[in-house]
This record gives sequence, C-alpha cells and structure tokens, in this order.
Amino acid sequence: MVSNIVRKIAFISDLHLFSRYAMMPPSYTTKEGITFNSGPGQNAIWEYFLEFCGICNQEAVDTVCVLGDVMHGQNPIEMGTLLVSPNMDEQVEVGTFVLDKIVNDPASPIGNRKLYMIGGSGYHKGARGHNTEKDICDNLKGKWLGAIANMCFTPSKKIFNMSHGESASFIYREMLLGREGMFLREAQAMGKIPKIDVSIKGHWHSFVYIHEKGMHMVQLPAWITFEPSKPYLKSYGKMQGDIGGVIITIDDKDRIRVWHFLMDNPPHIADEVQEG
Ligand SMILES: [Fe+2]
Repeated sequence: MVSNIVRKIAFISDLHLFSRYAMMPPSYTTKEGITFNSGPGQNAIWEYFLEFCGICNQEAVDTVCVLGDVMHGQNPIEMGTLLVSPNMDEQVEVGTFVLDKIVNDPASPIGNRKLYMIGGSGYHKGARGHNTEKDICDNLKGKWLGAIANMCFTPSKKIFNMSHGESASFIYREMLLGREGMFLREAQAMGKIPKIDVSIKGHWHSFVYIHEKGMHMVQLPAWITFEPSKPYLKSYGKMQGDIGGVIITIDDKDRIRVWHFLMDNPPHIADEVQEG
C-alpha cells in the first residue's frame, strides 16, 4: 500500500485562549506592561502545542484548519469569572500570536502554511455583531470560511464538510457522529447535497473517529482541560476531554488517513487531587 502523499492538513479546534483552564503562552504582556503569568497546567498544554507544531514540521504539513473557539471570549455563562482577561483586543492579539506559531513557523520545511478558519460558538466570540475570530484570520491572511464549509483540498476530489458543531449527544459521542453521517447520506441520496467524504467538527473537546465505507467522521480534541463551568459540571466523567490535534493525509489515489496526536497525562487545573 505504498502511496505518495499529496496533501497534509492539520486540524485544530477549541483552543479557548484566556480560559484559566486552557493553553496559554507564558508571559503575555499587555500594552500597559502588565504580564500575565500562566499556571503550570496552562504551560504544560502550551508545551504540547509546540510539540504538535514540531510534528507538523516533521511531517511537512501544508495547511492548517481551525474549527472554532480559538478564544474563550467574555465567558457570559460564568459572568467572566473563569477568564485570564475579558479584554477582546488582548484575546485577539494572543490568538494571532498562537496561530502564527503553527501557520508561519520558520521551521516549516515548506514555508508558510495555508490557513482556513471556521467560526466557533457564539458565546465565545465576545462581541455582538462582530466576529473576533475573523480578526485573527484576517491578521494571519487566512481564508475565513464562516460557520460551515464544504472544502476540496486540491488535487483531491474528496469533500470535507467542516463546522464547529452545535448538537448534543445524550450518552455516546459516537452516536452523534453516526447520526450526522446518516443524515448526510440521506440528503445526498435525495440529491440535496454533494457526497461528503469527511465530516469534521470541534466543540466537544474529545477525539472520536469513525471510518465507514465512503465516509470519515471526525470529532476533534481541544486545548483546554476540565473547566468548572455549567456545561462541564453536568458530567464530570464525560467532560474530561482530549488535548491535541489531528493531521489528515491525502494520497495520490485520493485515500484519506486520519492521525491523532493526543497529550499523555493532561493536567488537571480545576480538579487536581488535593490532600486534607
Ligand atoms: Fe469549545
């Protein structure tokens, strides 16, 4: 099964920068000269992000797709209490800095990478009528795809349906992917949509991958640990996500392979075991 790879695409999602429980580059200094010291858990995720950037260099990844929730925004659900800072200018600045690391890495053997971005959950955008994630995309000269996009990565003819994802699973995340795959096939059978070869989403912060005949269904990991906020507190076990990214390769026979890179022993920031 020897084949030549024609595209290598990194998919990342849900960085949630400026959450106290997410990746944060160390020592960000504001215009006023105030330096945010990130915690050890945040630093550990940052180190793993740099490791993932190194893998993208080793593998000569040519494209980066970001599927939403780059920043935590103003966190209205928790009234801003879980933030490093609610200032969206600072969040955009750090978001640009972080994505620049992977998009324009000087160590990349193929030069600057293409960047495509999808918008995340509305409550993480931070401002009414203004999509702050698009600012980051514009800063990095990426292509903003809005909330959902069907993408062909040339010369491949395979269609990737990319979105952040909104829906819920009662118990099994696999059910969510399988259900969406069934609906996609139904819509395709009725001639409503083109054939979707890859359905890829973020939002749930857990890596799940299902490969069936003619369709890959991927749920991306995140760059945030368990956060003590309302959606997470519904299920302590279920909301323990995965930290990392995914690289998808496409070969010259237009076959797709999905490779996951997940952090071993991710930190517990909100739920560390304490002695008493
Ligand atoms: Fe998220």
